Amino acid sequence: MKNFLIFLILLNFFWIDPGHTRPFRPIRAEKGMVVSADSIASRVGVNILQQGGNAIDAAIATAFTLAVTYPTAGNIGGGGFMIIRDSSKRVYALDYRETAPAKATKNMYLDSTGKVIKDASIRGYLAAGVPGTVCGMWEAHKKFGTLKWAEILKPAIRLAANGFALDEYKARIFNAFKQEFQQFPATAQIFVNPDGPFTKGYLFKQTDLARTLKRIARLGVKGFYSGPLAEKIAKDMQSHGGLISLKDLKSYRCKWRTPIQIDYRHYAIYTMPPPSSGGVVLAEILNTLEGFHLHRLGHNSSNMIRLWVETERYAYADRAFWLGDADFVTMPLNVLLSKEYGRKLRCKLHYFNAGVSDSIHPSLPNFKEKDQTTHFSIVDQWGNAVSNTFTLNGSFGSMVVVPGTGVLLNNEMDDFSIKPGQPNSYGLLGGYANAIQPGKRMLSSMTPAVVTHHDSLFMVLGSPGGAKIITTVAQVISNIIDYRMNIRQAIEAPRFHFQWKPDSLVLEYNRFNSDTIHNLLNAGYAILYDKYMGYVQGILIENRSSSITGWSDPRSNGRAIGY
Ligand code: GLY
Repeated sequence: MKNFLIFLILLNFFWIDPGHTRPFRPIRAEKGMVVSADSIASRVGVNILQQGGNAIDAAIATAFTLAVTYPTAGNIGGGGFMIIRDSSKRVYALDYRETAPAKATKNMYLDSTGKVIKDASIRGYLAAGVPGTVCGMWEAHKKFGTLKWAEILKPAIRLAANGFALDEYKARIFNAFKQEFQQFPATAQIFVNPDGPFTKGYLFKQTDLARTLKRIARLGVKGFYSGPLAEKIAKDMQSHGGLISLKDLKSYRCKWRTPIQIDYRHYAIYTMPPPSSGGVVLAEILNTLEGFHLHRLGHNSSNMIRLWVETERYAYADRAFWLGDADFVTMPLNVLLSKEYGRKLRCKLHYFNAGVSDSIHPSLPNFKEKDQTTHFSIVDQWGNAVSNTFTLNGSFGSMVVVPGTGVLLNNEMDDFSIKPGQPNSYGLLGGYANAIQPGKRMLSSMTPAVVTHHDSLFMVLGSPGGAKIITTVAQVISNIIDYRMNIRQAIEAPRFHFQWKPDSLVLEYNRFNSDTIHNLLNAGYAILYDKYMGYVQGILIENRSSSITGWSDPRSNGRAIGY
């Protein structure tokens, strides 16, 4: 008995609660889960699931909430992509990317001497494309929604009207952008605190945005794209040299596209076709790497990284040369997406030393997508899954809030090649396929993905990160399939990035060991370090237990919530 007591005392002493402190344990749930970059939005999404809504209802609620509580990237004035896998196992790709206004021209960001006008595509009215988010949410609801549209919008309206307490992270971000906000009075009115810096706990209200959301709740898609709200946007544009007209807003359409399916080691990955480059580049990377026994190389070993980098060199060169909006340009997708092309690329890779990007392709890219995008992943009790990435492009987009509406507009026009065919200050050329044309969608890297295994839902994931989105999503998928990590391990593992131009390998700062770095330098790679390597929001259905596991990238401030 005494020994048993000692045993119990020792057990108590050494026992580590597996749910909380054991490393690399993801969040688990039985019925459904929402993983987003913001805990309030994740909570709202889960509440909708618990009220009997499906994953699509929860996605709409999460998206509108992010527009209120995460205005860095969450939006109704931007656009994005949604991959849906429904309970009958069909997969859909919804494109609600912004479009260039009808008055947009190829050289609209160049001065009379052909030089790029500083910041014109980045800040202010001219930087905004015609927003797609409200159309996207409406379309998703029309096809899949089960709860009433107005009910789904209620939490976002409440949070805008009654306010929510800023956490330290949000207070800090708002304060950091004070100077930029001050260039636009309606923006400053919302995002600058006249009484001094925002602090944790500040009750942040957005009354104009609440009114706008109420209108959208009442009138649906028309509430945004026509009537007084659209008129306000068009009028404000007109008086500040912007191009978006009432006609642009009225004629905006989101589109259902055929998702790209990538088969990788008996898993099927469904993701976005153009106007996102995500699916094509991901396919090229995985189709090429499939021919190697990655798991034998050691995770994140220098040999493994070299294979990835040499593959990415070709995949990103193709992106720059070929890809644009499918409604405007012809792309050899059947070739780029094929296993045969992956095999050909494998034969070309440099194995013993670093390849040279200049030797690959005559055309050069435009990789200025900003990091401030946001992703959420959702599954429900019926097996519906939503993978949604949407964006304003830069943090707070163009920085323009249309007065009296609370609508923050995107600066997505900067994702076009603003000077195609001519070298920029780095000697780089922009891709012609992604040149500005009226009504065209600008090329994106957003890669929302749903993965299945033997026809069962396996994973839902995505990330912000501009050009890094694709390599981030690819690494997390490989971490799980090739290295058998769980979702938390796969997301937390150190990441690297390479995108053909510039010809430098980016390693996550302070996460790679010196031997690996030494070997890569010896092989001839120019190495840069970056702390910012995407923020993955992922869900994995574990094969053995069928339990839903999820994790929000600790590199950001999000949360996985299940029930
Ligand atoms: N603006 C980021 C992207 O679309 O990739």
